[in-house]
Amino acid sequence: MILPTGNPALDAYLRNGYAAVRGMSSAFAASICGHMIRRQGEHGIRGHLAEIGTFEGRFFIALGLGLAPGEHAIGVDVFTWPSERVLDNLHANCARHGLARDRYSAIKGSTATMTTDDLRAPLRARADLDPDLPIRFFHIDGEHDDTHLNKDLALALPLMHEHGLIVLDDMLHPAYPGLVETVHTWLRAHPDWVCLAILDREDIVAAAKYVLCRRASVHIYEKDLLETFAANVFPMGSDVEGHFTAVLTPHPRLAEVD
Ligand SMILES: C[S@@+](CC[C@H](N)C(=O)[O-])C[C@H]1O[C@@H](n2cnc3c(N)ncnc32)[C@H](O)[C@@H]1O
Repeated sequence: MILPTGNPALDAYLRNGYAAVRGMSSAFAASICGHMIRRQGEHGIRGHLAEIGTFEGRFFIALGLGLAPGEHAIGVDVFTWPSERVLDNLHANCARHGLARDRYSAIKGSTATMTTDDLRAPLRARADLDPDLPIRFFHIDGEHDDTHLNKDLALALPLMHEHGLIVLDDMLHPAYPGLVETVHTWLRAHPDWVCLAILDREDIVAAAKYVLCRRASVHIYEKDLLETFAANVFPMGSDVEGHFTAVLTPHPRLAEVD
């Protein structure tokens, strides 16, 4: 399901390119994330964008089309699965769908051995970019186990804008049932962060995403999400670690009971 994002370039990509780029994230989640990235700009929230698990760029291009001047997109992946052609395919897909080569950097390697400085390195290499500008939107979609997710969250956290969003993919996926336990443990250890929203699955290969932000930033996003996407709000909502969490789903409904 594609929803309007308010960003014409992204809307066109979602309609005419997204499904053709090999990948796993849903157009539904990309629409809502694209909307939130645009809204960040309207609130003066400036920063770079990052993704762990960039693969061939399906979701990465959607993020990158929301970049404002002076901002950069950083994509990290081992780029070896399922073949060594993945990185070339990423560059070809970005070129085909309007994400210019100077607007993004691809870092090839495992996050297991990376530091936050490694993520900043492509920014430092460019005189026209501010490496100290924080990251305002970070999509984590790499290896789906406790060790890697904790490491990826640890890489992201020091880089985040105070009003930034961390979006976690493949939550509640039947293949990774333990992954939410990692998130709950992480949220308990970081009580200034909450689960702002759950973007429900479209399919088993386009699973749910959790959207995290600092407690103090909820007011920037929550009401807007509930109002803008009112037709997609699951009325019961959810509760993640004691915080009301908005649930957005392609076809909201409750089970019918007599
Ligand atoms: C599910 S795919 C990502 C899909 C993509 N984000 C999309 O929305 O279409 C997961 C990616 O994570 C990458 N990956 C797995 N382990 C990784 C690691 N330790 N460091 C970096 N990338 C990793 C894989 O190579 C794969 O491309």
